[in-house]
Amino acid sequence: MSTIAVLGAGKIGESLLSGLLNAGYSPENLLFTERYQQRAEELTKRYGVRATDLPTAARQADVLVVSVKPQDIEPLLDEVGDLVTPDKLVATLCAGLPTSMFERRFAAGTPVVRVMPNTPMLVGEAMSAVSGGTHATEAHLDLVEGLLGSVGRVVRIPEDQQDAVTALSGSGPAYFFYLVEAMIDAGILLGLPRSVAAELVVQSAVGSATMLREGEGHPVIMREGVTSPAGTTISGVRELEKHGVRAALIDAVEAAHSRSVELGAKHRQETDSEGA
Ligand SMILES: NC(=O)c1ccc[n+]([C@@H]2O[C@H](COP(=O)([O-])OP(=O)(O)OC[C@H]3O[C@@H](n4cnc5c(N)ncnc54)[C@H](OP(=O)(O)O)[C@@H]3O)[C@@H](O)[C@H]2O)c1
Repeated sequence: MSTIAVLGAGKIGESLLSGLLNAGYSPENLLFTERYQQRAEELTKRYGVRATDLPTAARQADVLVVSVKPQDIEPLLDEVGDLVTPDKLVATLCAGLPTSMFERRFAAGTPVVRVMPNTPMLVGEAMSAVSGGTHATEAHLDLVEGLLGSVGRVVRIPEDQQDAVTALSGSGPAYFFYLVEAMIDAGILLGLPRSVAAELVVQSAVGSATMLREGEGHPVIMREGVTSPAGTTISGVRELEKHGVRAALIDAVEAAHSRSVELGAKHRQETDSEGA
């Protein structure tokens, strides 16, 4: 079994470690790095996984999973760049950073796979999209898909679609939280206690999500199933249409996409000038 090192065990990195252990990976085959000694000790106590420094992780592991914030990437690459060789596989979870940026910093031919996960990874329900860089083979992509599969679902996409993924499933949980928040407010307006309103809305969201995932039908068919002639739901749906909620959601995702493209370009400019 490959040795996997999680470089930066914050929210996402810790969730991945936890998911890999739940999926049957042995703590012997896992390593992680953390900046703060106390956090490292806590994680080792919680999961039985060894903490190490970046150069040791880069030397000992077969797979390096980079999960530091994009703004922390430069010092990390400075420390490990020269130690990463083509016999390793690098999986980067850093939002907005292209595989080419990593490839430039490692030995020629090093395989890099870019991953866009989302926060439901914290509960083992992530949606991740993976894209291979220049030297990533089918086997490398399979391996990364297997790792991410321990904390949710995975799709494979061309790298030029990563900004769209960022806008849809990367930011997506925030839009669902926003809708839930608004519906809870509506329940309060109608006189329900907050805790009751929250339970009604959250369970309706979980139930609807389960139907969407497990049912055979299209969302439209499912919505039609609860929209009876002259009933209550159609009165509500008319208001959603009147207020342009569908168009607002499409615009929101499009705006997130534009921002992702813009941030990616800015980051590339900064890293190009730092790397120069
Ligand atoms: N959270 C999301 O919704 C989400 C979604 C998609 C993608 N991502 C990507 O996932 C990555 C991780 O995000 P996150 O939310 O898990 O961030 P996070 O909680 O800040 O975790 C990053 C961790 O890496 C540590 N770190 C930074 N530099 C390091 C170094 N040189 N050596 C060792 N450890 C180092 C940080 O330590 P400190 O505490 O000292 O800073 C922190 O514990 C990011 O690149 C983000 O773009 C996140």
